[in-house]
Amino acid sequence: MTSPRITVDVHLDPAWFDQALRTDVRQGLTASPKQLPPKWFYDDVGSELFDKITRLAEYYPTEAERQILRRRAGRIVALSGADTFIELGSGTSDKTRVLLEAFAATGQLRTFVPFDVSERTLRVAASEIAATYPMLRVHAVVGDFEHHLDQLPTGGRQLTAFLGGTIGNLEPDARGRFLAELAGRMALGDSLLLGTDLVKDVERLELAYDDPAGITAAFNKNVLTVINRELDADFDLDAFEHVAFYDPVDEWVDIRLRSRDDQEVRVRELDLVVPFAEGEEMRTEISAKFRPRGVEAELADAGFELVELWTDDARDYALSLARRC
Ligand code: SAH
Ligand code: TRP
Repeated sequence: MTSPRITVDVHLDPAWFDQALRTDVRQGLTASPKQLPPKWFYDDVGSELFDKITRLAEYYPTEAERQILRRRAGRIVALSGADTFIELGSGTSDKTRVLLEAFAATGQLRTFVPFDVSERTLRVAASEIAATYPMLRVHAVVGDFEHHLDQLPTGGRQLTAFLGGTIGNLEPDARGRFLAELAGRMALGDSLLLGTDLVKDVERLELAYDDPAGITAAFNKNVLTVINRELDADFDLDAFEHVAFYDPVDEWVDIRLRSRDDQEVRVRELDLVVPFAEGEEMRTEISAKFRPRGVEAELADAGFELVELWTDDARDYALSLARRC
């Protein structure tokens, strides 16, 4: 199945994965208020559920970003001048194919580097892309973008893409650190392509994170299934309710799980008994919404100069091309 044109570096070996999960779950479930970090959503089932979310009519960001990419791919490719294309949090790299097509038309691209925590999803995407583009070397990296950016290949003229609004899933401090670290590993003149969801009316925002079919609720609760399986816990998924509301002060969608009753959850691998009060909420994710000026300012703080910022027709979503300066 694998050809010499595909390599997969794995920086999340089972021991690292297990240690990181234990630390996150112990800290998160003993904190007040409780919380769980979002990267644990994305096991095989979680990645599939996310893929379903991207096809929901209520979840507009995917199609908005695709519209911008279709219009601007040629320009992005030309402005970047890249021969190496890195994609962080690449998932299925579905929309990314629009850019790969534009690269194929110029013949300038040598290497594509998809990077994700979800190994299976990454391997499938890497082999499909290698099969579609016989001239391309695909160097996939399994890692955590908050820990393993230093494992990315260096050299060449690089374009790094971070799509899907995933930057909004980092807390503001972590976001600043992440962008600065990214800038630190890029050469002067390298480019960053950043997708950010924009502030808009509350109803549409909340519906995008709480669809009537319940796919988003299942995705959110999947983190409990991961903990049950990996740490021998006994979360009852029916005893928790999916909650998503827009916080207009912080300008983010706050995604939580709310305990329906007083209950105790055992996490046997951690020797932990976790009490939940009826109505108690545990944050599992934030999804920050941006304004174009804010995006430009955060990029500048990290060492990037905004080259162009495009929105879709409805101005729901922004894609920014920035240059390391
Ligand atoms: N880029 C795709 C997927 C976005 S969903 C799109 O635009 O549709 C977020 C992706 O980031 C998932 O594939 C998830 O597995 C990955 N991810 C989440 N946290 C991560 C982390 N800490 N390090 C690396 N990848 C991560
Ligand atoms: N990056 C996605 C976003 O912020 C992740 C996401 C979409 C998500 N729907 C979700 C995370 C529901 C948790 C729950 O838009």
